[in-house]
Amino acid sequence: MIFDLIKKRRAVFPAQYNDKPIEKIDIEKILEAANWAPTHKKTEPWRFKVLMGEAKEKLGLFLSYKYMETEAKPKQMKAKKLIENPKKAGAIIAICMQRDSQERIPDWEEVAATAMAVQNMWLCCTEMGIGCYWSSPGLIKYMDQFFELNDGEICLGFFYMGHYGGEIDEQTRMPIGEKVVWME
Ligand SMILES: Cc1cc2nc3c(=O)[nH]c(=O)nc-3n(C[C@H](O)[C@H](O)[C@H](O)COP(=O)(O)O)c2cc1C
Repeated sequence: MIFDLIKKRRAVFPAQYNDKPIEKIDIEKILEAANWAPTHKKTEPWRFKVLMGEAKEKLGLFLSYKYMETEAKPKQMKAKKLIENPKKAGAIIAICMQRDSQERIPDWEEVAATAMAVQNMWLCCTEMGIGCYWSSPGLIKYMDQFFELNDGEICLGFFYMGHYGGEIDEQTRMPIGEKVVWME
């Protein structure tokens, strides 16, 4: 049932991934799910770059290099993690958003639609037993130096994916009642 799947969905991080590769056919399915997200004025703003193999490693090196270059007091541990995490992932999908050229709807609606596409991917991964999470480091502002981004296209983060074995930490939420006002 969709409700159970929604509650089961968790952020699963690279430290928890194993070496089992992610099949291209599974990634295609996940991307197809993304493509069915709702979209105001049918702008379909979500754009993805799928990084596998060497491309993942290049991303890690780029992020680590940018971190060392831009941070006032860079930490070696963090620089290393930026290289190691992409290596641990079975695949990384860069989450990008293409602004409508006519700017017919506000920017936030395009980000919202892209986030809904990511939720579709995340739920699909949950059902397929693939661990994943959305990573949004400050370094994403430099991604135009790594990808060829179109005019009006920005990178909103990375969707890390990997098969995993162990238990995932439980999560909690503050009660929904605290976030809702009923008006009758
Ligand atoms: C837009 C967005 C950006 C996120 N960025 C990060 C991130 O940069 N680093 C991180 O550890 N988790 C990130 N997360 C994942 C959250 O940490 C995770 O969803 C949260 O801890 C709740 O856990 P759950 O998803 O398992 O319920 C992000 C989630 C969203 C929706």
